[in-house]
Amino acid sequence: MGDYATLGDVQGKRVLVRSDLNVPLESHEGGTPRITDDGRIRASVPTIRQLADAGARVVVMAHLGRPKGSPDPAYSLAPVAARLSELLGRPVAFATDTVGASARSTVDGLGDGDVAVLENVRFNAGETSKDDAERGAFADQLADLGDAFVSDGFGVVHRKQASVYDLAQRLPHAMGGLVAAEIDVLRRLTESPERPYVVVLGGSKVSDKLAVIDNLLGKADQLLIGGGMVFTFLKAQGHEVGKSLLEDDQVDTCKEYLRRAEESGVEIVLPTDVVVAAEFSADAQPVVVGVDAIPSDMIGLDIGPDSAAAFARAIGTAKTVFWNGPMGVFEFPAFAAGTRAVAQALTGIDGLSVVGGGDSAAAVRQLGFDEDAFGHISTGGGASLEYLEGKTLPGIDVLKD
Ligand code: 3PG
Ligand code: MG
Repeated sequence: MGDYATLGDVQGKRVLVRSDLNVPLESHEGGTPRITDDGRIRASVPTIRQLADAGARVVVMAHLGRPKGSPDPAYSLAPVAARLSELLGRPVAFATDTVGASARSTVDGLGDGDVAVLENVRFNAGETSKDDAERGAFADQLADLGDAFVSDGFGVVHRKQASVYDLAQRLPHAMGGLVAAEIDVLRRLTESPERPYVVVLGGSKVSDKLAVIDNLLGKADQLLIGGGMVFTFLKAQGHEVGKSLLEDDQVDTCKEYLRRAEESGVEIVLPTDVVVAAEFSADAQPVVVGVDAIPSDMIGLDIGPDSAAAFARAIGTAKTVFWNGPMGVFEFPAFAAGTRAVAQALTGIDGLSVVGGGDSAAAVRQLGFDEDAFGHISTGGGASLEYLEGKTLPGIDVLKD
């Protein structure tokens, strides 16, 4: 749980809480959008409840998607506020703007222990502005709505944004329980991981993972690579990858990583077989081929069964595992086996298993795994990767003073 002692007694105080409620939504023509994975909302509940139970007037700030700095109904937090209310089991007031008349009257209307959610903070251009003054001006307006600030949106602590960073400079602040728990686990991964330490990386783009691979080459014992990004590695190994995802400009970098891995005694494990199909579609016919036999007109959509078994064996012997990024297109059942095998293997280890945010966290839940079977499921993909890269996270750094 968070340490709110520095805030003193919160009874009757307006406490602004930054949460990460950025959940995937499925829109329906004319209807209310459906939340396809409410993991981040559930993870945000304990801090909000704890503050409300302590008598605070809780004002939740959050973003949804990447609107362009002005109101856009497609990115409204209204359905998210409704879900939060269900999960909290109490009413949640909703302000239809961020710092305008609705926000002010909503906050004024709160009694002790009540909860409100402000509309998507990214409806205001000041939230994500690169200009300190513009961000600061928005943070000033947010600060007017509260007496204290609790930073609990782990998924955004790597963003230097008004409601994450600048607001902490304007109000008495504290780290929320979710952020504290996330940082605690990441510290265990970086400071002295119990060995063997195996890292599984997937997802579509190798270019998103360069810095983390770079850093892990000095730390992990084994790096298992799957997902769309693997085809750039396979190309670097000299294989043809057909119509699979390929970042041509990263082939040399991948070659360099393979060379450095050998030098540093870190084993990079690539698949030996893959599942390919003629097209990117849920009902495409899956075909298993060796990585040296990917047909020129096919797309790789998952790691193959031999590779999945090999990955599972490697994970099975580990004492520490960090996994970020699906192994294939898990949203299509025919191409979910690699991701499922990795998830399954993580649940069986005798040690610390960490699922790093975003798509892999969603995959674990969508594939029906029990969240308690994992040591930790992070709510932040980008944030946990940046932490492992050794970067300073602005939203954490700013809480230090
Ligand atoms: C995420 O989904 O990664 C976080 O909510 C941060 O969102 P952002 O990448 O749009 O800043
Ligand atoms: Mg992101």
